[in-house]
Amino acid sequence: MAARIVVTRRIPDPAIGLLEGAGDVWVSPHDRPLSADELHSAVAGADAAVTLLHDRVDGAFLDAAGPALRIVANVAVGYDNVDVEACARRGVVVSNTPGVLTEATADIAFALILMSTRRLGEGERLIRARTPWSWSMFFMLGTGLQGKTLGIVGLGKIGQATARRARAFGMEIAYAGRRRAAEDVEAELSARFLPLDELLTTADVVTLHCPLSADTRHLIDAAALARMQPSSHLVNTTRGPVVDEAALAEALRAGAIAGAGLDVFEREPEVHPDLLELENVVLIPHLGSATIETRTAMGVLAAENVVAVLGGSAPVTPVR
Ligand code: DGY
Repeated sequence: MAARIVVTRRIPDPAIGLLEGAGDVWVSPHDRPLSADELHSAVAGADAAVTLLHDRVDGAFLDAAGPALRIVANVAVGYDNVDVEACARRGVVVSNTPGVLTEATADIAFALILMSTRRLGEGERLIRARTPWSWSMFFMLGTGLQGKTLGIVGLGKIGQATARRARAFGMEIAYAGRRRAAEDVEAELSARFLPLDELLTTADVVTLHCPLSADTRHLIDAAALARMQPSSHLVNTTRGPVVDEAALAEALRAGAIAGAGLDVFEREPEVHPDLLELENVVLIPHLGSATIETRTAMGVLAAENVVAVLGGSAPVTPVR
């Protein structure tokens, strides 16, 4: 009997084409996240599930899927939406899509660094609001990056790609993380390893690239923000809950930090209402991997993982 492959939301056609070679493919007809009930009835009896970052893959999902399920292929590098232990207990393989979105996400992190430090969102809003303005020596001054320190929390692939961009802009690199990077990575980026507290007090711009886990939820809270310099900026392109949004809004309002750029939000797609009132924060709707090339590559990699597991091989990119 052909394997039943469930895709919880539309993904690029080349990925669907690959999946069709491995079984009967059902793709959600809705281009929106499925409700828990819809998700659970969709996956019933599936051999493979291709999930998106908004799908909660937990005990209830696995119960609903039943014993045939062999792989959950998450189309994202982050997999905080998947209970990996629960999957392992039931012999369900979990894969993600690392590597293929590194450059696109680093581009967005660096775009947010520039937008925040050079006040680009504010400037755009000013023009669209038809506010009168004229060039002056002191009009809308931002801060330059050359010679400044970029503090990277999590020097994985995306953190390193962001660091490379920062080096090209003349920035110094410091980083914090669970473990020290390899010597050649540190040497290439001239990167200094610092404890997080020291990184926060030293950096001119802090950019977050650590995965969301129990350890990193609200890693940037009121106390962490209080350590940052009043002239500093915070950028988040990883997962919203790494930052306490209420505390961030208060720090931005009080001038405890100068600005922030956010691609991800604590209760996505909601944004904390206080942030919406502030000029010194740039808000974009989770666009880190949003290029045609990258989204296609993510879909194809997820499909390759499904094809491998249904064919009896190991997935190309298991989560661990
Ligand atoms: C990921 O892959 O985790 C990204 O957040 C998707 O853009």
